[in-house]
This record gives sequence, C-alpha cells and structure tokens, in this order.
Amino acid sequence: DDPANLEERAPVVTIMGHVDHGKTTLLDGIRKTKVTDTEAGGITQHIGAYQVEEGGKRVTFLDTPGHAAFTTMRARGAQATDITILVVAADDGVMPQTVEALNHAKAAEVPIIVAVNKTDKENANPDRVMQELTEYELVPEAWGGETIFVNVSAMKGEGIDELLEMILLVAEVEELKANPSKRAQGTVIEAELDKGRGPVATLLVQGGVMNVGDPIVVGYTYGRIRAMMNDVGRRVKTAGPSTPVEITGLNDVPEAGDQFLVFADEKKAKQIGEGRAVRAKEARRRQTSRVSLDDLYN
Ligand code: GTP
Ligand code: NA
Ligand code: MG
Repeated sequence: DDPANLEERAPVVTIMGHVDHGKTTLLDGIRKTKVTDTEAGGITQHIGAYQVEEGGKRVTFLDTPGHAAFTTMRARGAQATDITILVVAADDGVMPQTVEALNHAKAAEVPIIVAVNKTDKENANPDRVMQELTEYELVPEAWGGETIFVNVSAMKGEGIDELLEMILLVAEVEELKANPSKRAQGTVIEAELDKGRGPVATLLVQGGVMNVGDPIVVGYTYGRIRAMMNDVGRRVKTAGPSTPVEITGLNDVPEAGDQFLVFADEKKAKQIGEGRAVRAKEARRRQTSRVSLDDLYN
C-alpha cells in the first residue's frame, strides 16, 4: 500500500483466557451490556465482535470462548487481532487455556495486556498471577519487565477505565493504519445458516470499504451483499477498516477464519467463488490441506 493512502484505523482487540475467568463479563462491563445472561450454561461458544467508542476513539473487540474445546477459534481470534487482552482470574491463577491463549498471541506476534480479574474476591491473589506469568516471559513493568498488568473486577466495573487507557496507549504505539480506498478485504469471524435469511456471516473488514450490493467472494462461497448489520443489529450501508459487520447474500456458509474480497463484477465473483468451491471439495476428498488463498487476488 502507498503510505499516502493509509488512514488511522481502530485497534482490533481480542479477549482471551481460561474458561469462566470473566472475559464476557469484562466485555459486558466495557460495553455496558449483559451478553453473559443470554449464554447457554454461561459458556461462550462463538466469537462475538463489537465496537466501542472511548474518548472519541473507536476500539473493536472480539470475545473468544475459554472452553478447552474451542482451540481453533482462539487461534483464529489471535490472528485477526492487533492486541490481546489475557484475562486471568485472580482466585484461580494461570490455567491450561491461559497458557494456550498466550501462546497463540505470541505465535501471532500480538502484544499482550494482562487483565487480572475477580480482584473483588476474598481469595484473590493478583501477585501470584504475576509470578506465574513471569514463567511465560510476561514480566510486569513493576518488576522490570515490559508487560502491562491491570487489576480489574469485571463484575464491579473496577479497573475498566485504566484497562481502556492501556489499550489506547498500546494501539497508539502500534500506529495502526489501513487503506480505505482499496477493494474491501478481511476475515470471517463466524458464519451460520439462518432459517429465514440463509447464510449469514460476521466479517471483520481489514482494508477498504464494503458496500451493500458489492459482489464478494468469501472463502469458498460468493454472492452479492444483500444487507449489512452492525454489531448492535442496526442496518448499515457501508463498513470500513476494523469494523465488524454481519452480511447476507452468500450462496453458502463460509468458514470462520476464511478470507474475503470484494469484486467489481458479479460474474467474476461467481466464477472465482465456484472455482474455489470445486477445488476445496477436491482437497477435502483427497484430505489434503485447504486450497491456497492466492487465487483470490488474481
Ligand atoms: P467462557 O467464555 O465460557 O470461557 O467464560 P468467560 O471467561 O467469558 O467468563 P464469564 O464472563 O462467563 O464469567 C464466568 C463467571 O465468573 C460468571 O459467574 C461471572 O459472574 C463471574 N465473574 C466474572 N467476572 C467476575 C469478577 O470480576 N468478580 C467476580 N466475583 N466474579 C466474576
Ligand atoms: Na463463562
Ligand atoms: Mg465468555
């Protein structure tokens, strides 16, 4: 990208950590919502994507599940992100999916901010969390390291302002930019078949601006964007860099983690999408790896 075409964009922040350490509650605190109340068994089973405005700056958040079964979702979450918030419950300490999450973030070379949660609890021990994390090279600034630790109580809403401040600080250092004038492109956060609306996909736009009516190839599916909805369920006509948006109009359900690209011409999108679907089917039949994404750009 020509630097002259680059514009500042919102940071994409992924919340990760062990099951029930309070990721969704923390995000609820940030958004002033109650998503946790609607979850079956209090277990997050998908990646939620939301945008928040803080002091005139927007931040995009991805919530991930902490349950052991959702390793691939955590890996994908770490790849689509600029900053990882590692949530560790102060009463429970570092647990298996805490380690898994920090390893995903390290592999993706994403900066980690540690949110030590549940500090309101009687048996909370934030110092022990710091101690435990130094074994994974996450050394707090207070101990001469470089990792930002923030003590929070998601339930009581304590420490959230400081956490947001740290997020904006790290984002500023990262100098996050995107080219809004190129063809819209990005990643599938999640997708499903809706009874009434057909295939529905939540996309994270990473470059360009997407419009209703745009022909699009999403993984091995294609279509023309029929409708777009933002993270609070409001219909929108456009979506720019770092914006999560739900779209309809695809011929099939894409997979989370798939890339998407907007096309100028619907016929071309259909031709490429169909070709990719055929090759994906062939690859599955031969049980080889998934087809390369290079052809999207040819
Ligand atoms: P998964 O998405 O299933 O991995 O869980 P999660 O990390 O999103 O945790 P969730 O937000 O569902 O919270 C798990 C439990 O911890 C709930 O009962 C919350 O009410 C509780 N909890 C979360 N944050 C706090 C906190 O700061 N203090 C206390 N005391 N409880 C908390
Ligand atoms: Na939970
Ligand atoms: Mg959750």
